[in-house]
Amino acid sequence: MDEKEVTEENKRSHDCKELIVSLPREKGWITPYLHLFQGFCVPKSGTTWLKALTFAIVKRQHFPISENHPLLVFNPHELVPPFEFVIYDENNWQVHELPKMPEPRLFGTHVPFASLAKSIKETNTKIIYICRNLFDTFISTWVFVNRIMPEFLPALPLEEAFERYCKGIIGFGPSWNHILGYWRESIARPDKVLFLKYEDVKEDVVFNVKKIAEFLGYPFTEEEESNGVIENIIKLCSFENMKELMVNKCGTMGKGRIVENKYFFRKAEIGDWVNYFSPSMVEKLSKIIEEKFSGSDLSFRLCD
Ligand code: A3P
Repeated sequence: MDEKEVTEENKRSHDCKELIVSLPREKGWITPYLHLFQGFCVPKSGTTWLKALTFAIVKRQHFPISENHPLLVFNPHELVPPFEFVIYDENNWQVHELPKMPEPRLFGTHVPFASLAKSIKETNTKIIYICRNLFDTFISTWVFVNRIMPEFLPALPLEEAFERYCKGIIGFGPSWNHILGYWRESIARPDKVLFLKYEDVKEDVVFNVKKIAEFLGYPFTEEEESNGVIENIIKLCSFENMKELMVNKCGTMGKGRIVENKYFFRKAEIGDWVNYFSPSMVEKLSKIIEEKFSGSDLSFRLCD
């Protein structure tokens, strides 16, 4: 991102005061990220779904699908907690105790690949990355921020949020850099990074569930396949099922969190952006995408 743009943006009024107050200031790691938020949260691209699927896949020995399954009770972000918002943020999590947790240990992060800790990059930790076409990502993020207003982040008019997004101002940095960082690593080290696109998972969820299971070293046996285990996992983690559960439970994520579970489940469509984008917005973002992704061989499906 252009440092100058960020600095100038920092002088503006949307300064995330609430967020700063709600995060532990004394822990120095968060401060560099805060100026990137600019009142506009992390990109919404299917993390909740990926966490649910991954949890259900790797924990299936412990938690076969039944009425007591943790995914029927907890938001996937509680079962696969994000490092930057939970592990370092809540007193009951002690980083030095993490290795004592039973394997397989599942965590989430929004941190760009280049900024990941060496202990993640240089060990046999496996990474599954999910991203989504930037049009839907932007709208999903914008609606999320505006819905959870005013408790969490200040709302932004669509045009202003879009201008910021086009300058790369979003939690954890420009989406194109974020995506390309993981994309390149997935090509260089396919055993280390599994790169998924939201649109592809939607198109063939069975194929992608098997892929995740194999990548993580938990392949399905023939018996499991014939007993419908894959289908049950998919059904459990489906948008319709999770939305129903979470909206009815209407809880908040973890203790003291402000975001209600229901806000993580909206429409789950490919192409909802057409209801929001003007022709000039389409032109602007298309140009950015063409420029930033040129030569990467990476493209995204924009409509169903
Ligand atoms: P929409 O806002 O377009 O509906 P994240 O989990 O990274 O925050 O991304 C949120 C997006 O994923 C939202 O998109 C949300 O509706 C969608 N989503 C959440 N759970 C899902 C699921 N189980 N299956 C498919 N999409 C899901």
